[in-house]
Amino acid sequence: MNRVPALEDLGDVSGKRVLVRTDFNVPMEGPDDQRVITDDFRIRAALPTIEYLTSRGAHVVCASHLGRPKGAPSAKYSMEPVRKRLAELAPGVDLLENLRFNPGEEGNDPTFVDDLIRGIDMYVNDAFGAAHRSHASIVGPPRTLPSAAGRLLHREVEVLGDMREKPKRPFVAVLGGAKVSDKLGVIEALQQRVDAFIIGGGMCFTFLAAQGYPVGDSICERDQIETCKQLLAGGTPIHLPEDIIGLDAQGVYQTFGIRLPEGAKGLDIGPGSAAAFTDIIMDARSVFWNGPMGMFEDPRFASGTKTVAQAVADTKAFTVVGGGDSAAALAQFKLESEVDHVSTGGGASLEFLELGDLPGLAALRGAPNAR
Ligand code: 3PG
Repeated sequence: MNRVPALEDLGDVSGKRVLVRTDFNVPMEGPDDQRVITDDFRIRAALPTIEYLTSRGAHVVCASHLGRPKGAPSAKYSMEPVRKRLAELAPGVDLLENLRFNPGEEGNDPTFVDDLIRGIDMYVNDAFGAAHRSHASIVGPPRTLPSAAGRLLHREVEVLGDMREKPKRPFVAVLGGAKVSDKLGVIEALQQRVDAFIIGGGMCFTFLAAQGYPVGDSICERDQIETCKQLLAGGTPIHLPEDIIGLDAQGVYQTFGIRLPEGAKGLDIGPGSAAAFTDIIMDARSVFWNGPMGMFEDPRFASGTKTVAQAVADTKAFTVVGGGDSAAALAQFKLESEVDHVSTGGGASLEFLELGDLPGLAALRGAPNAR
């Protein structure tokens, strides 16, 4: 199999126009026409690649998606706030408008690829967070242009690849977040690779229901209960919460045991569960964490996620935190610098752990300079 070309494989980039696919899908807040970036982590993460190219005389044109604008332009998803921040961090670098304003991006339309690469000499993919999407800007340009993985994409694949292929044991996967259906594939695939799972967040209620516990009005995907039962019967231990924090039927804040009364809604793991999860994380030698333990944006339901984040920060294990909400939680608790690797990809890091490859990587292996 061809290897994924690195920046050095592009040769002399001086005077070349290089299209860099970045993942500048950054969190924002504020009214649609005055959006403000709340975390520029993904922009800063692209700087080593941009600097490699510009310092060697290349002209860099960045391109990214932002949100899910469904193929039409809108003020809410304009790249303008990102363009301003990028100009501060990397002056002289161009940034195209949101790729997803054109339906050809998600439709992987060859005409859109042609438009993107007109006047471009080389292509670099540094968008790890979007490398699991077979979209035009991810898989199109490497068909014809000399191409390479940027520093960020390279590092993500190296770290997650090692965790997948040769983890130090015990290897514990800590999974949370609202939707169990998003994570079942990765749980199934990781069953052969991890020594134990810890499951919290909204997704734990489908597992608790599969064990026969009443979950009240908590989020629960009934159509996934059978699959959860099979996973629980598999050989790999799945640690679930033993107490739950939430609201009772009257909306009063409560700590419950494992059985939720009718009308109650679980919104965080309880202190007993957080302590038990901490013990497992402290004894591990590799930890992958994706997905919060509860609705941590609300301080009443943040303690489970905070305790788990602190354990991930304190353990001597090699720790990887997979993108999205868990990275945001780490940032909220100011613990980003305490883990070994914060991935810029949420869905991408899960898919890479599950499959060991991504469409964006396969496309780079097929580039003319890789064949
Ligand atoms: C992400 O935020 O996970 C990536 O930017 C991908 O975004 P998407 O899930 O909308 O494709």
